[in-house]
Amino acid sequence: MHNVTTARKISEIVSCVGAADWNRRLFDSLIPLPDGTSYNSYLVRGSGKTALVDTVDPTKTCIMMEQLHGVERVDYLIANHAEQDHSGSIPAILDRFPMATVLASPKCKGMLEDHLRVPAEKIRTVEDGETVSLGNRTLEFIHTPWVHWPETMCTYLVEDSVLFSCDFFGSHLATSDLFVTDEAAVYEAAKRYYAEIMMPFRSVIRRNMEKVQARNVSLIAPSHGPAYKNATFILDAYEDWTSENVRNEVVLPYISMHGSTEAMALHLTSALAARGVKVLLFDLATTDLGKLAIALVDAATIVIGTPTVHVGPHPAVFYATHLANALRPKLKHASVIGSYGWGSKAVEKISELIPQLKVEILPPVMVKGLPTETDYRKLEEMADTIAERHTKLGIA
Ligand code: FEO
Repeated sequence: MHNVTTARKISEIVSCVGAADWNRRLFDSLIPLPDGTSYNSYLVRGSGKTALVDTVDPTKTCIMMEQLHGVERVDYLIANHAEQDHSGSIPAILDRFPMATVLASPKCKGMLEDHLRVPAEKIRTVEDGETVSLGNRTLEFIHTPWVHWPETMCTYLVEDSVLFSCDFFGSHLATSDLFVTDEAAVYEAAKRYYAEIMMPFRSVIRRNMEKVQARNVSLIAPSHGPAYKNATFILDAYEDWTSENVRNEVVLPYISMHGSTEAMALHLTSALAARGVKVLLFDLATTDLGKLAIALVDAATIVIGTPTVHVGPHPAVFYATHLANALRPKLKHASVIGSYGWGSKAVEKISELIPQLKVEILPPVMVKGLPTETDYRKLEEMADTIAERHTKLGIA
């Protein structure tokens, strides 16, 4: 018999009609998904009108449709975000419910027209703070730009204090849990999500947090991952991640071709550990770049380890450094270690790759061939400098 997915109730009037994507392993052909993901869509039935908040990835349209079996009307189709994992089923929903009006921020309207060819006349724009009535319930639209794209907004079910936050506060998790049950697992997944998607817009995210906190939200229902009955759990986590706080940690992504750079990375790791500095070491030949992104959320310092390939850094280091620059973490210091055969411009090229990092560049340690005892002493001096800087920051 064919499996039929049924809608699940979040509350008396709100049902989740989304879909888990258990086997997806890459998002945007870029972001690793070790635990799959989910696309949550929410049906809100007021006494007079019915609203559908966000849709699902187009690959899961039929699963959403199964859950809408027996639903006669959708009056408002709310597009919090134009990215296709939430908006991709809008055309199918409009076919099924031709009476529905799409509600979106003014920027989102243009994007829905561009990316999905949704007819302009089907879309009504809503301003920040605007409300619509469902009869006995009210939906308020809160513009929250850059929680992932510039057009993003949240929808707030006023009487029930439920925030439909779309990507904001989300986690890439395929799970049968409607609500968070394992806070530690969700914390890790939500931090990964923040690091990869939100971190570049940290200061805007903080302003959006203020808007959310002004509402006394009791339940947060994102469009990825389980919903938070304990809204404070994720609000506190975001408060910490978006703050100016850094930790007594060094992120050390490296790659090694013949062992010299690895020997240096390991020596520096133990020298830092001996000075009470935590090291998060990543071999770029095998690491999950999502874990590197998570480590960048809190660390005070990054040291990049690279061998020299055609005068510059190894291509894997180019990629990871470009990523670190794009994510704009709170890092305060950066440096480079590594080895070369006959000549190197690796330090210069890495420095050029990080214009967005507001860091003090500490003296690098580059070694010709295998590191000598003198080179190891230089790495210990680097560890001294880092520990000293961290003490000055008050985090050691
Ligand atoms: Fe989940 Fe930015 O889309």
